[in-house]
Amino acid sequence: MRILAIESSCDETAAAIVRDGKEVLSNIIATQIPVHQIYGGVVPEIASRCHLQNIAPTVEQALQQANMTFDDVDAIAVTAGPGLVGALLVGVSYAKALAYALQKPLIGVHHWQGHLCALQLEHDIEYPYLALVASGSHSGIVEVLSDNDFRLLGASLDDAAGEAFDKISRALGLGYPGGPAIQKAALLGDAAKISFPIAKTHDTYDFSFSGLKSAVLNHINQRRMRGEELTEQDKYDLAASAQEAICTALAEKTLLAAQTKGYSVIGVVGGVAANQLLRQKLADNKNGIRVIYPSPIFCTDNAAMIGAAAYNYYQRGEFADMSLNADPRKPIYFV
Ligand code: KG4
Ligand code: ZN
Repeated sequence: MRILAIESSCDETAAAIVRDGKEVLSNIIATQIPVHQIYGGVVPEIASRCHLQNIAPTVEQALQQANMTFDDVDAIAVTAGPGLVGALLVGVSYAKALAYALQKPLIGVHHWQGHLCALQLEHDIEYPYLALVASGSHSGIVEVLSDNDFRLLGASLDDAAGEAFDKISRALGLGYPGGPAIQKAALLGDAAKISFPIAKTHDTYDFSFSGLKSAVLNHINQRRMRGEELTEQDKYDLAASAQEAICTALAEKTLLAAQTKGYSVIGVVGGVAANQLLRQKLADNKNGIRVIYPSPIFCTDNAAMIGAAAYNYYQRGEFADMSLNADPRKPIYFV
């Protein structure tokens, strides 16, 4: 069962061939990061135009790398949402046209489910397990009861964790994407220099990161009002302190949820799962909880994870038809 999967929800045009939901035969990512970097973040209209340029060659490369032709493909899968509507539309329209022309089944995948299924590419997943989904657009602690049943324990009330990294990095002039930039700057900084508080939320497992972004901005503004510009070392210290606060909130709440609900395995997915400090904090648990991650290339947006999720959709008989549309706010149903 070889699925051609396409992902275009944000700033990566990606195509992959995945066999039986597990074996990655090819995984091509045409990144737009350099294009958006000069603006300090993703510009949706530019993203759509880049997807248009990149999608056909990316799919062709994915086929080539897998040594396949369109005839060898058993189904076409595509991220249908959530994401940037114009960006999603490019992938969805392309996948629909392919499925129609080739008369192959079409599968519309939820982006979040794709991130979770990145785990199944490299691990033998046993349900239920606890997941931390932390990307540029979502942060949540989820009980994964089966490949299609989820119970949401908590989510961010404002900015997603990756968004917080991105906004803080922008404020410090460290560049886009913020996560890797802050992680790198933090290596030279002192995390104990500034103590940013972890936001208290009404519901234990919710997160809130917008206050942290404001605290960093306030710090910068106060320095400016005193006529002081930030030195490079100040930026490194702020990056390290902010990273410490974000990772502590994510790790403490996720470990508490695992302990309280009795989970012995935590799966961490999404771009922020690539963060080394987060990994270290989760690994430092005293309860023998095993923490699993996708390889870094499968943490950030990619199409292999969409192909993995699509295999589960296929097994469930969950197909899309020509009415499939890009849904920027595509809901996920929680039990
Ligand atoms: O999963 P992803 O590629 O796209 C979304 O679905 O949003 O996640 C991108 C996010 C960005 O906000 C980026 O700053 C963050 O993941 N990210 C990281 C790291 N690498 C990427 N955050 C922290 N540490 C990293 N090493
Ligand atoms: Zn994503």
